[in-house]
Amino acid sequence: MNWRDFWNGEHSIYVNDRHRALHDDRIARDVAGLVEGADSAVLDFGCGEASGAALVAARCGRLYLYDAAPLVREHLRLRFSRNEKIVVTDAGGIDEAPDRGLDIIVVNSVLQYLTRAEFEALLDRARVKLRAGGRIVIADVIPAGAKAADDIAALLKFAFQGGFFFAALGGLVTTFFSDYRKLRAQLGLTRYSEGDALALLAAHGFAGAREPRNIGHNQTRMMFTGRVP
Ligand SMILES: C[S@@+](CC[C@H](N)C(=O)[O-])C[C@H]1O[C@@H](n2cnc3c(N)ncnc32)[C@H](O)[C@@H]1O
Repeated sequence: MNWRDFWNGEHSIYVNDRHRALHDDRIARDVAGLVEGADSAVLDFGCGEASGAALVAARCGRLYLYDAAPLVREHLRLRFSRNEKIVVTDAGGIDEAPDRGLDIIVVNSVLQYLTRAEFEALLDRARVKLRAGGRIVIADVIPAGAKAADDIAALLKFAFQGGFFFAALGGLVTTFFSDYRKLRAQLGLTRYSEGDALALLAAHGFAGAREPRNIGHNQTRMMFTGRVP
């Protein structure tokens, strides 16, 4: 099993429906806050189930949803078939889309599952698909020195505020015995230092910046923007 297979199957990353709903809502509100114009074209790369995507779509002209997992794309197509602003796409659809047609590409909580070479290839594709002045927003990046305890503390705080604290405690036990933990030990999660991420953005033609806040609940993780000059 690799990360792609993991995300294409049943998993228990979210401890219950309330966790998933609060997570998706928080992400959607944060992503919607990044949209700069009502006619913007936005690509959410590695979007997951994105159950709050209608909120983002309401703030932009067109929202493209892409996830590597075919099962996730199938769910997205069913969920958003009636939303005229949302287009669920596969990798081929992104490649065939017009160059310089996108205003923002959001990559939230995905980088850890990509090798460094895959991230560099993504930056090159993004550079071609973004218009001048457009941005790639790379969020929830795990810092090089991060500890698992940082993620646990952030989850428990989010759970306490969201009213699913005891379910989250149970979820931590489940995670301990899960495929996620086994894969994490086997494949690892890709991490970046701030300097490393900024150097990669610059090397691939972006004016990069570390942002003061991350998307989502975990503020120990990092967010970067790369603007096309
Ligand atoms: C932790 S989830 C994040 C989902 C969503 N961005 C969010 O913030 O809720 C990671 C997602 O990245 C997707 N993913 C993993 N590798 C990918 C790749 N190489 N290309 C596109 N998506 C990928 C997975 O299928 C999964 O849905």
